[in-house]
Amino acid sequence: MSVEPVRWGVLGAARIALDKVIPSMQEGDLSRVVAIASRSADRARAAASALEIDRAYDSYDALLADPDVEAIYNPLPNHLHVPWSIRAVQAGKHVLCEKPIALSASEAIELRDAARQAGVLVGEAFMIRSHPQWSAARRFIENGRIGPLQLVHGHFSYPRREETDVRSRVDYGGGALLDIGCYPIVIARWMFGAEPVAAVAAIDRDPEFQVDRITAGLLRFERGIATFSCGGSMVAHQRMELFGERGRMQFDLPFTPRSTERCRIMIDDGSRSGVEILEIDAANQYTLQGDRFSAAIRGAGDVPSSIDSAIANMQVIDALFRSAETGRWEEIAPVP
Ligand SMILES: NC(=O)c1ccc[n+]([C@@H]2O[C@H](COP(=O)([O-])OP(=O)(O)OC[C@H]3O[C@@H](n4cnc5c(N)ncnc54)[C@H](OP(=O)(O)O)[C@@H]3O)[C@@H](O)[C@H]2O)c1
Repeated sequence: MSVEPVRWGVLGAARIALDKVIPSMQEGDLSRVVAIASRSADRARAAASALEIDRAYDSYDALLADPDVEAIYNPLPNHLHVPWSIRAVQAGKHVLCEKPIALSASEAIELRDAARQAGVLVGEAFMIRSHPQWSAARRFIENGRIGPLQLVHGHFSYPRREETDVRSRVDYGGGALLDIGCYPIVIARWMFGAEPVAAVAAIDRDPEFQVDRITAGLLRFERGIATFSCGGSMVAHQRMELFGERGRMQFDLPFTPRSTERCRIMIDDGSRSGVEILEIDAANQYTLQGDRFSAAIRGAGDVPSSIDSAIANMQVIDALFRSAETGRWEEIAPVP
């Protein structure tokens, strides 16, 4: 039986939406982007004609009032994630919101409660949660390939952006931890299959923009430790390594693998025979994310990165920011 694709609307002609997410969702079997809104009518029309989108709106409210739109993709700047996602759920739309879903865990909880009240689905657009290289990694750990997981280490960085970029604006929720530090945190929680109990961080702020330009953190889990670093003013690089009791795994492009190339996972199982390179089929994580969310809307499966997981991730980030102020380990409470 064929399933009718979900009709999506997009709030804002954001770079990530135009370059990656909309074209990828248009390739999906279960998703169809039918409307886009921009504060500029011209930008909305240009995006609509370039990306085969039926309708263009010059205001976000007009898009939310479109009765044909079932679900909203929200790629607004971070400080607008929760306000506009709440307006969307109150308009009866399901919401896929860009990461980080909120500026704090308490904001994310407000969104969860609003979605529950409206009876719609909400999830965080952590596209890596839909990439097969990570489900494969999780399976390897579950199958004991590297022995019990003990240590996760990750890094994500890019060069300094101009002052108008959303990442350079402290009042927009810019900075490296919210923008990219969130990725190794998500992976560590997923690979351990558990939430950390405490966190400690060191933060170095950009003297001009005041956003965190370097953040390094440690997360303590019941059964291990994660370390990560992120930078918004240094050489671009991304890496994740997982260390088990017997072996380790290393990922070349853990967060933004190319959709047209196979991914390589290096597995060293600690034996004398050495290192094996495992190739994972090329996949478009944005297409998979859209289709998984659409399937959940049609009643098949769960949203790929749930609101409860988003709240848990924000609790870790809250604790890291607190720790950078206090200079101490900060406890992380369970998701209320
Ligand atoms: N998952 C991923 O791979 C990925 C990658 C990059 C970014 N992101 C996330 O996506 C979001 C957007 O990032 P981006 O780099 O695409 O940003 P961007 O190009 O600056 O887009 C943000 C959009 O928000 C709208 N907007 C509404 N109010 C605004 C305001 N006061 N100031 C600036 N823009 C405003 C604008 O659309 P209109 O003017 O058209 O209304 C703008 O185009 C961020 O949350 C970021 O973390 C995710």
